[in-house]
Parts: sequence; C-alpha cells; structure tokens
Amino acid sequence: MAVVTIDKLTKVYDRGHAPAADNVSLDIADGEFMVLLGPSGCGKTTTLRMVAGLESITSGTVSIDGRVVNQVPAKDRDIAMVFQSYALYPHMSVKDNLAFGLKRRSVERAEIERRVANVAGILGLAEFLSRKPHALSGGQRQRVALGRAIVRDPKVFLFDEPLSNLDAALRVSTRGEISALHRRLGATMIYVTHDQVEAMTMGTRICIMNGGRVAQVGPPLDVYRRPANTFVASFLGNPPMTLLAAVATDRSGGRCLKVGDSEIELPPGRCPPLRPGSQVTFGIRPEHVAQSAAANGAMIPVEAEIVRVEPLGAETIVIARLPGVEKLVFARLPGDAAFAMGERRQLFLDCGMAHVFDGDGGALGAGDT
Ligand SMILES: Nc1ncnc2c1ncn2[C@@H]1O[C@H](COP(=O)(O)OP(=O)(O)O)[C@@H](O)[C@H]1O
Ligand SMILES: [Mg+2]
Repeated sequence: MAVVTIDKLTKVYDRGHAPAADNVSLDIADGEFMVLLGPSGCGKTTTLRMVAGLESITSGTVSIDGRVVNQVPAKDRDIAMVFQSYALYPHMSVKDNLAFGLKRRSVERAEIERRVANVAGILGLAEFLSRKPHALSGGQRQRVALGRAIVRDPKVFLFDEPLSNLDAALRVSTRGEISALHRRLGATMIYVTHDQVEAMTMGTRICIMNGGRVAQVGPPLDVYRRPANTFVASFLGNPPMTLLAAVATDRSGGRCLKVGDSEIELPPGRCPPLRPGSQVTFGIRPEHVAQSAAANGAMIPVEAEIVRVEPLGAETIVIARLPGVEKLVFARLPGDAAFAMGERRQLFLDCGMAHVFDGDGGALGAGDT
C-alpha cells in the first residue's frame, strides 16, 4: 500500500526567478500509474525529485501513506527511481548490477539470489546475467535499470523519461513492458514524460503541467475529450486541436460565433449562451473536420482553401485556411481522400464536438463528447 500526496509543492531554485514547481497538488492513489506530462522545462523532473527526496522543498509537503516525508532522506523513503540515463555500473555484470542495491542494504545472500532470479525472469534477462552492460543493447540496459528498481520491492516507483534514449520501435515495446509490469506488481508509479503517446497509453491518470503549474489532472481520454484550457487542448493530440479566435454574434441565442468571415453555430450543450461581442477561442480537433456532411445536424459547412495535403496511407492530413483566418485548420480525413493543394472547396466542421474557451483560455460549457 502506498498513497502519495503532493500538497502545494513549490520549488524556487533561484530567488527572483519563477518557481520551477508552483503550488503543485496531486493525490496519487495506491497502485495508480500517474503520468506527469508537459513540455520541456515545465517542472516535471523537479516535482519528481522532490517526491524522491533528491531535491529540497521550498514549500508544501510530500506525504507517503499519510506521513509527511519532507525531512526523510531519499534512501529511507522506500522509493525507487529509474532515470533516462540508465547509469549502470560498467565493470559489474548484470547480476551484480541487479544485486548491488540489496547488498548495500545488507539483504541476506539467499534472498538476494531469489529476488535477482525472479526479476531476471520477469524482464527476460536470465540469459544475460553474467554479461557486462557494454555487451547489452540499449533496450536490455534499460531493462536492467528497471530490474534494479524492481528487486528492491519499493513502495513507489518513479520514472523520469526512461524511454527517451531508446529508438522508436524499442520505445513502443518497452512501453508495453512497463505497463505490464505495473499490472503485475500493482505498485504505485509516477512516470514523467513529454511524450503524449506514452502518457495516453500508460497512465491511469495524467497530470498535465505548464510553467510549473498543474494545468489539468484526469484519466487520459477525459482530458483529451474535455480539456480544461487551451494549453491542454493544444498539447494533447497530433495534429493538435485547431484553436481560432472568435467573436460571439447576437444570433442563435448567443451560440453563433464569427470565425474570420464564417459564421459557426454551436449546438446547445456545447457552450453556454455568450454575450454578443465577447472574444472567445473556437477549438476543433482534426478528426472532427470532414469532407462531407454526415447525417448529423451539427455539421457546419465552411469554405476552405487547401494549403497542404499529407497522404499518410491510413489517413490523409489536410491543412486548410478558412476565409479571413490566418491560422490553419487541420483535418484528419480517410486515406483515400482526394484533395489537391490550392483547391477551394467545402469542409464540414462537426460543431457537436467543438470546444469554446473564454478570453483567458478556460473551457466554457460542457465540452463533452
Ligand atoms: N538545479 C537547477 N537549478 C536552477 N534551475 C533549475 C535546476 N533544475 C531545473 N531548473 C529549472 O527549473 C525549471 C523546470 O525544470 P525541470 O523540472 O527539469 O523541467 P522538466 O523536467 O519538465 O523538463 C526549468 O526552467 C529549469 O531550467
Ligand atoms: Mg525533466
């Protein structure tokens, strides 16, 4: 059992500079896989290192199972951390690398043998136990680094971008291995990444950070479907949600937006009635832009100039410009969509799935799907 509670955690490295972590509050349930997601420099590593006890805390608390551990040294927190650089001992065999932490903690020899054999079995390292790290592939080395954390049987696992040094194919398979490991061990894990695919596929919940602050916390699909603000809306999704400046008109009970030269009417439930003239942001995901109107009343036709066509086989990404709008709109269309650059034609916005954000970027209305 390990519940991690982060309460108003703040880190200021240099006085006079903005905090690296700013009032971060987050409850991580027992057995949860919490992902801290955000762009480089948003404070993920700093937050994780304060949880681990590797970084001093400016203010706020970290608690494990209800006990504040701010003053508890890292080695006594019963936490194991896996870093991006695996930092194995080059002169030691895989077996000795795995056993090292246990020997230092004076665990009995027979128990060390048992745990190392068990972990080697779980991670498929049994046949490499006598090798040195230089004779392993990058993926195998990362598994040894994982193994070093697992043998300790800690209360909490912390991961800081552990897959960043692996090539694309290995990242996918190791991602699956870490998820399987989480299910198997049922341990509490906190995983830092800037990669939205890792976050979406591995996390039971994700905590999106921006500029040291928590932007939104929730299960991956909830956050994807109901982004709380424009930062989250544009960070999750590839291509990202198109966000366009809009002004509310006096038509349709405050639910008609002027976006460039187009008027876009939103169905009730998508946003509250807006005061005519209010400046908002209209958001539409690429998958909610279509080449024809489905039997769906919320499909709004817009005139578009096709700026770029990216045929990817399974799908075609079309990038278009709406009249009077500088920013480009992304559409995710079927692989057989036939579009030509420079062409002018209608696209259809599924406004039942659109998002509206206020002048400060906060989501308005249900934003539900
Ligand atoms: N030891 C340090 N001293 C001063 N500033 C730091 C230190 N570590 C990180 N920072 C700053 O704190 C901010 C957050 O960094 P970090 O937590 O490493 O972000 P992330 O892991 O999300 O990329 C950045 O602006 C970074 O430059
Ligand atoms: Mg980092």
